[in-house]
Amino acid sequence: MARPHIEPFCDRDTGFKNMILPGFAGGMRYKMLSLDVDSGACSMTVQYDGGYRRAPGFSWSEMEMIVIEGELQVGDRTCRKGHYFFVPAGYALPEISTAQGCLVLVMYNTGEPSHEESTEHHPLAQVDLYHSVDSYMDLPWAMGNVTKPSVAAGCLIKLLNYNPISHAMTFLYCMTPGYYQDNISYHDCAEESYHLWGTSWMMQFGEVPTGGYFWRPAYINHGAFASEYGCIALGRTDSKLFNHFHYNPWSTPVENVERSAARLYKRDPLLYKWCLSKDHNHPHGPEDFEDTMQRRGDEQGHDTEHKSDGKTHDHWHGHHHHEPGSPHTHTHADGTTHSHD
Ligand SMILES: [Fe+2]
Repeated sequence: MARPHIEPFCDRDTGFKNMILPGFAGGMRYKMLSLDVDSGACSMTVQYDGGYRRAPGFSWSEMEMIVIEGELQVGDRTCRKGHYFFVPAGYALPEISTAQGCLVLVMYNTGEPSHEESTEHHPLAQVDLYHSVDSYMDLPWAMGNVTKPSVAAGCLIKLLNYNPISHAMTFLYCMTPGYYQDNISYHDCAEESYHLWGTSWMMQFGEVPTGGYFWRPAYINHGAFASEYGCIALGRTDSKLFNHFHYNPWSTPVENVERSAARLYKRDPLLYKWCLSKDHNHPHGPEDFEDTMQRRGDEQGHDTEHKSDGKTHDHWHGHHHHEPGSPHTHTHADGTTHSHD
């Protein structure tokens, strides 16, 4: 179960709740924006009250955050609005604190919010994936044509994180004043946005103001778009972004799925033919031998390649979907059943 469709939603319309999970000090308040009730992965607007102080430590979940307003002290670094962090699971951050209070967008990608006090990284943390940047001051705006066909000119982006396995992206985007795009979009990926400042408008869901948010599963129509005075937002996709554009406001998500499949059929007919044999496909998808081949001997069931796809955590605990020699069975469309290893 992934996260449900949250749209339209504005965090200014709800109040903060006190964060009482262990590990987080008092003075941390949150508004839940979206939540995967199975994994605990979530996105939250977080208010750290003036004087808040959290001990050094790491989360068991991959985490991203961006400062919305105020100043956040992270170790000896003062981070102002627009400062973005990508923090792998098990990566120990130094003490964080704020003298005057600050507002932060916090996203736990692979599990529920957690904080384990530690001055050292977990031994299996993928520490080289960590990065942080003052995205307002130290990155230039680039054209929004990261994928073709592209959004209309006038929607600019700053790429903040890119997962080379899933092609998931985190980025800032802005719509320039007077921006508009007159077609309708859907994607094969989920899309998330938080409006850091400014208002945009969508035909289906109306105005998205400062604090406006959506988590939009794949295949849901959105657009036309417009923004009168411009806006700046943090956006994410959970896998490869492809813009399916059209002009049919009545098409359903099911019809949009079928259209995506039809386009796959036209573009990659052999791949489509293989994917179409639905009943035969392994429940966890086909094996990518690069994910399962042994490269460097026994590493406690875990290798240190960049394996996180942003949706699941690696198996550090000796758990395997299929132990060698454990047979499983499945049924074919023709009603026959067989088992194999
Ligand atoms: Fe979109």
